[in-house]
Amino acid sequence: MRVINSVKELKRHLSEERKKDKSIGLVPTMGALHEGHISLVEQCIADNEICVVSIFVNPTQFNDKNDFASYPRTPEKDYAMLEEAGCDYIFAPSEEEMYPEPDMRVFDFGSITDVMEGAYRPGHFNGVAQVVSKLFYAVEPCKAYFGEKDFQQIAVIRVMVKQLDIPVEIIACPILRESTGLAMSSRNTRLTPEQHQKASLIAHTLKESATFVPGKKVHEVIDYVINALNNEPVFRVEYFDIVNRDTLQSIHNWTETTDPIGCIAVYCGEVRLIDNITYKN
Ligand code: PAF
Repeated sequence: MRVINSVKELKRHLSEERKKDKSIGLVPTMGALHEGHISLVEQCIADNEICVVSIFVNPTQFNDKNDFASYPRTPEKDYAMLEEAGCDYIFAPSEEEMYPEPDMRVFDFGSITDVMEGAYRPGHFNGVAQVVSKLFYAVEPCKAYFGEKDFQQIAVIRVMVKQLDIPVEIIACPILRESTGLAMSSRNTRLTPEQHQKASLIAHTLKESATFVPGKKVHEVIDYVINALNNEPVFRVEYFDIVNRDTLQSIHNWTETTDPIGCIAVYCGEVRLIDNITYKN
């Protein structure tokens, strides 16, 4: 496994691999790796001859400076986990390497970015598109791997690659959960032991809400989830909505679409967590 910090060096190595007809897969990450990331790496290794993992905490996607500053950074542990998983190249650029010039690009992804994360984190998806497009240009992967916990992010990246005509296949991988059901996230490390224990209630409540379908109306299920969590003093639900999985727009009746998805963002103390559940109707 090689750790590379410069785009030029990365391109040089990967062009050698391509000359040998090797297929290249990319797992973009912001580090602070957990088993969820490793499951993406394993899928990447299974599908491609060369696996590249990028580690870069991208400043342009944080709309909150404190969130950027407090985002966990564990490079030594990350490198050890990736070595063990069988990764071939780690790309770990500096901020100057990724953004030698400020990235002035403004994307327009239409209504999919007007809702949920897009509505509550202004500029977030523009920053994600900036960095992910730069990573795609640097690595030129055949396939790129993203976790379904960030469901809206995958939808945005799919639109981005169409708009920019980037020849990469986007592979969505299932959410990995801790034994309590809590969706794995780098941010979980910032929870106190008590908050960590309570946080399992998020997945538990979502799972319970699925048992009400289709008996309860969509808005009743939404109210149930929000109230159940807000009743616990440790939580503050930022949003919970049940949406069409293709358009990401709210649904009002179960019959409107197949497999709608419920997406939540909830503060557990100071830590903002997201999760989602697919409803079978
Ligand atoms: O999902 C993430 O970790 C980030 O948004 C990504 C895709 C690595 C871009 O910085």
